[in-house]
Formats: sequence, C-alpha cells, structure tokens
Amino acid sequence: MNSKDQKVLISTFEKEVYEGLTAFPKYLSSKYFYDEVGDELFQQIMALPEYYLTRTEYEIFNKHSEKIIQSFDTIKEGFDLIELGAGDGKKTKILLKELLKQKLDFAYMPIDISQNAVDGLVSTLQNEMPNVVVQGQVGEYFEVLDRLKQLSTRKKVVMVLGSNIGNLLHPRAIQFLKKLGSAMNPNDLIFMGFDQKKHPQKVLDAYNDKTGVTAAFNKNVLARINKELDGNFDLDKFMHWETYDPESGTAKSYLVSKEKQTVDINNLSLQVHFEAWESVHTEISQKYDDDIVKWLTKESGLKIVNSFSDTNNDYKNYLLAKA
Ligand code: AVI
Repeated sequence: MNSKDQKVLISTFEKEVYEGLTAFPKYLSSKYFYDEVGDELFQQIMALPEYYLTRTEYEIFNKHSEKIIQSFDTIKEGFDLIELGAGDGKKTKILLKELLKQKLDFAYMPIDISQNAVDGLVSTLQNEMPNVVVQGQVGEYFEVLDRLKQLSTRKKVVMVLGSNIGNLLHPRAIQFLKKLGSAMNPNDLIFMGFDQKKHPQKVLDAYNDKTGVTAAFNKNVLARINKELDGNFDLDKFMHWETYDPESGTAKSYLVSKEKQTVDINNLSLQVHFEAWESVHTEISQKYDDDIVKWLTKESGLKIVNSFSDTNNDYKNYLLAKA
C-alpha cells in the first residue's frame, strides 16, 4: 500500500474509503451503496422474488393497518409520524391511508439521506394524498436524532422500516436506539421492522439473487470510487459473496478480488493491492428473533409493547416505548 504523506483528506467518503482500504482485513461501508444508481438498484432489489423483506412488511401493513394505527394510541391528541430512511414510502402510504380513514390529526415527516428520495416522496404524496400534511427532511440517521426534539413538539411515533436497523452491528444499533430514546418523551413510540431468523437458504438467496442485481448494488461502492475519487477498479475482477451465520443471525456481504491486482485511487493518491481471493467486507444485514429484540431494547432503555408479523413469521414490526 503506497500513499502520499501530505494528502489532505476532505470528505467523509474519502476519509472512510482510505481507512477501509488501508485496513486489514479491508472494508467499506454499505452506506456508500446509495447514490442515484444505487437508489435505483435498491428499488429493483425490493421487487426481486428472492428479496422477501419488502413483500412481507407490505403484507403486515395490508393485514394489520387498523390494529397498528390503534396501537399508536393517538386518538385524543395530534401526533407526528416521523419516518427515518423513508425511501419511496410505498409501504407507509398504507398506514397514511388508514390514518386518514380514522380521521386522526397527524403530520408525516419523512426523513432520508437522499434529497432525491425526499423530493420524489413529497411530490407524489401531494398528488396522491393532498390531505396529508407532509414535511420532508434530508439527513443521516444519527445526525437527524440530534434535531428530533426540535423537529416535533407533539407526540411522536418514529418509524424505521425495512429492517434498516439490521445494517448496524448490535453495539451500534444499541447506540442508535439509546439516542432515539433520549429524543423521546415518555408517551412517544417507535415502530420498527426487524427481519427474523429463518431457513438460512432463504436469507442467502435474498442477498444472492439470480439476476445479479444485488451483486451490482454491492459493486456500486467501487463504481462510486471510480466516479467520485478517480479510481480504476475493474468491476469484473471482483465478485459479490454472501455468507449467513444462523447462530448469530448475521448475513454479511463481501467483494472478493478474483486475482492479484493493484487499483489506483487518484484523488487519494492511493494504490491498493489485492491478493487473489482477498475480501472487502461491505455490509451486514442482521436477522433477529424475539429474544434478540428484547435484549436490544432492554440494553437501550426501551421495551416492546406490541408486535405484528406476517403469516410465516419471516418478518416482524415491533412497537417500542421507553422502559
Ligand atoms: C436497506 N437494508 C435493510 C437492505 C438489507 O436487507 O440489508 C439493503 C440490502 N442489501 C442487499 N440487499 C438489500
């Protein structure tokens, strides 16, 4: 590994790419999968037959929307429905429809890291559901939590769907939940999706689709380095590799170098050497069961007050409150 000593690192992306690719073993964060191309690939993933997560959460909402809304316990008062990582809001619209049906006083605040996603969602909602008060916000999870208290002064229901929490290792998930709890008042709630442990093959297939969309999604971090940091990764010289450990419930994605090679990242003045079959760890997608969720919430000063699952128990949405 060579680097120019005097290089001034500017963006977080540059800094983290440098750190991850000069570490042993190498790693890159899955948060860098998401640019315009990555957002589009993730949309395709959510429609894949193998990627059961989106369908099952959709099924839960379709089946239980009335009970879910009742469990928010907001009949008497107005409240703010805050969604972290809202994306295209497709599933949320089912809940919004139910909230309108039950004539509840609420505002919907979708928050996403992608300005593109927030703009798209706000404009489709204005067309499709003009009666919903929408206040879109752009921001990263942890940073948004810092301003959550100022964002909303009414009762809050904070939603994190799609098992997005699964992209954080347990210690970081606890940090996130603790921070979320500290921004909440005693009667505020969290409504969160947790993908459940299941047949290991089903999990592996979800992250290893036949059409290769997930592989392209994983490799998008390399494509971004090429585009944004003037790199010269040959994407064909890397393969997407998925593992799932049924004991820990952790699915892990890697990019594996198919041969010994050297890659230049010019903006970092960095040459990265790869041995044949050397890996770059890129993503974790944690799977849960009730005991793990109970443990996580307890460690974070929260408690489970309700849960909703699909017919196969492949996926669960938990309602959490401060302990
Ligand atoms: C966004 N996140 C919860 C997805 C997951 O299941 O970990 C991202 C994803 N990665 C590969 N396929 C989907």
